[in-house]
Amino acid sequence: MAQIVQRPAATPTTHCTPDQYDALYQQSLDDPDGFWLEQAKRLDWFDQPTKGAEWSFAPPDIKWFSDGTLNLCHNAVDRHLGTHGDTTALIFEPDSPDAPGRSLTYSELYGEVVRVANALKAMGAGKGDRVTLYMPMVLEGVFAMLACARIGAIHSVVFGGFSPESLAGRIEACDSKFIITADEGLRGSKRVPLKANIDAALDQLDAPVTGVLVFKHTGADITMTEGRDHWFTDLASDDDCPCEVVNAEDPLFILYTSGSTGKPKGVVHTTGGYGLWAATTFHYTFDYQPGEVFWCSADIGWVTGHTYVTYGPLINAGTSLVFEGVPNYPDHGRFWDVIDKHQVNIFYTAPTAIRALMREGDEYVTSRDLSSLRLLGTVGEPINPEAWRWYHNVVGKGASPIVDTWWQTETGGHMITTLPYAHDMKPGSAGKPFFGIRPQLVDNDGNELSGAAEGNLCITDSWPGQARTVYGDHDRFHEAYFSTYPGKYFTGDGCRRDEDGYYWITGRVDDVINVSGHRMGTAEVESALVLHPKVSEAAVVGFPHDIKGQGIYCYVTLNAGEEQSDELQAELRQWVRKEIGPIATPDMLHFTEGLPKTRSGKIMRRILRKIAENDYGSLGDTSTLADPSLVDSLIEGRQNT
Ligand code: WTA
Repeated sequence: MAQIVQRPAATPTTHCTPDQYDALYQQSLDDPDGFWLEQAKRLDWFDQPTKGAEWSFAPPDIKWFSDGTLNLCHNAVDRHLGTHGDTTALIFEPDSPDAPGRSLTYSELYGEVVRVANALKAMGAGKGDRVTLYMPMVLEGVFAMLACARIGAIHSVVFGGFSPESLAGRIEACDSKFIITADEGLRGSKRVPLKANIDAALDQLDAPVTGVLVFKHTGADITMTEGRDHWFTDLASDDDCPCEVVNAEDPLFILYTSGSTGKPKGVVHTTGGYGLWAATTFHYTFDYQPGEVFWCSADIGWVTGHTYVTYGPLINAGTSLVFEGVPNYPDHGRFWDVIDKHQVNIFYTAPTAIRALMREGDEYVTSRDLSSLRLLGTVGEPINPEAWRWYHNVVGKGASPIVDTWWQTETGGHMITTLPYAHDMKPGSAGKPFFGIRPQLVDNDGNELSGAAEGNLCITDSWPGQARTVYGDHDRFHEAYFSTYPGKYFTGDGCRRDEDGYYWITGRVDDVINVSGHRMGTAEVESALVLHPKVSEAAVVGFPHDIKGQGIYCYVTLNAGEEQSDELQAELRQWVRKEIGPIATPDMLHFTEGLPKTRSGKIMRRILRKIAENDYGSLGDTSTLADPSLVDSLIEGRQNT
């Protein structure tokens, strides 16, 4: 029986008490339209919606608030000017603690966003155009997202750690004619050559990118292509720039994410439903109170940064901290220094960061004043109870509740999480469904499992923040999420529900691995490996990693006549880094003479996973392998890797 950690007592300002959760959750299931049309009042609409949900999962066709019009930049900025003009909207903490930071009010944010929006317009960008953002974790990244929303353009943020190859693929896939970037980024004192990567990516593309807007950040010497590349300051203006009126179902952004097959999918989120989901989940999950400083440590290149650095906090007129750096530079106390310096009240980070910092000892934490903290959160992967307890006891001094928020790029925002003053916590469990969410566990044949059970996690009914399609490929959206268990949204995650109705995510059940909280399709790493001229075949699986959660384990066979060597191993690691980006760097590279295949030629990944996990006792039936003797040599190879 899992130990229960009691929730703190509700206060008069608490957004959701246990009774309120029960009542609101029930209401959200009984009358979704009534519930969400009421919640929709959190947003300012130009035309208030009268329609709630119109959806089917077979095939997927999803709309929410389809007769409503609005603008999310207006909701995140303009509408606050009268009431919160002097409230701090954003705080910037740079990579180096010695560099100047910045904080700006909603009035100042308005000015910045208008300048970027005018620069975008000067390049010819407008409603419906895709704009690729390849930015460091600086305030200008947030301005750029909001500027796109302001003019009705669709942003596609590509994480600054992706390679020129990955970037090129993402620019091409959404046919983006406009790019916003900076000369360089900084991470732990290392420079990231963003503009040079853009140049390298654009060299590979046939389709023309007509405008690249460049922010000066480090002042590095970069190449500017006449007519195409523009310094932000040359195009910025303070001219009037009204918010474009868009329909609730007009796309707000595309975000590429890994799936179990092929290339990353461009997940599309629309304006009304996503905006409302960001606003509502931020309000309830973090119990955000006016004046509090909220810090989500995710990069805006990931969905967590979209929803909980930019849209959630700003739509709620909150104060959001943007941190450019990394947890271990200049030392392992950097996160705690930032909390101390900016009096952060709510801190939201990933289990991988918690584990890495826990390993460095308590001294880094206890030497800082963290008394401002009221609430802690985690996201991205299951948190092991040991790391949970350290976070709770050492960082939160046993007083701050932890919200372990389960969700996905495709869900837009939180789906399963305890609410801090409504639910007791169980370390390692995400907790209870958010309003409107009907989780269902099914066995491999799609049969519903009731009560306490373990199975594949599906969601049976639509919710406003749900992705609507895969950009340019609605069939793929259907295939990836609604075909495994027809009529249900399949998350790709395994999950257990306990006797109290708490959900425990057990990890991905497809060929996606979760490396330091980042989703990685094993197929992508395999494709990168086989591009190398010496590689014949590759199979990639995850294996348990103390800090990263999962590491990347690659089995590689070489072309005839090629020699296995340490040099080649290092070269292949470097190769994958270059093809995809540093986050995809293989942790283990295992040369083998062959891969275990069935007689029909299908790779038996189950066996490869077990061997990578060093778990040889339960390999299961290997007699169907074309060459059963291969297993012994794979095990031997594992021990030498
Ligand atoms: C995993 C990140 C356990 C899960 C927001 C999911 C989690 C994938 C949790 C989505 C959590 C996310 N507990 N697992 N609290 N949060 N995951 O799209 O496997 O980058 O399917 O979205 O991360 O990753 P994504």
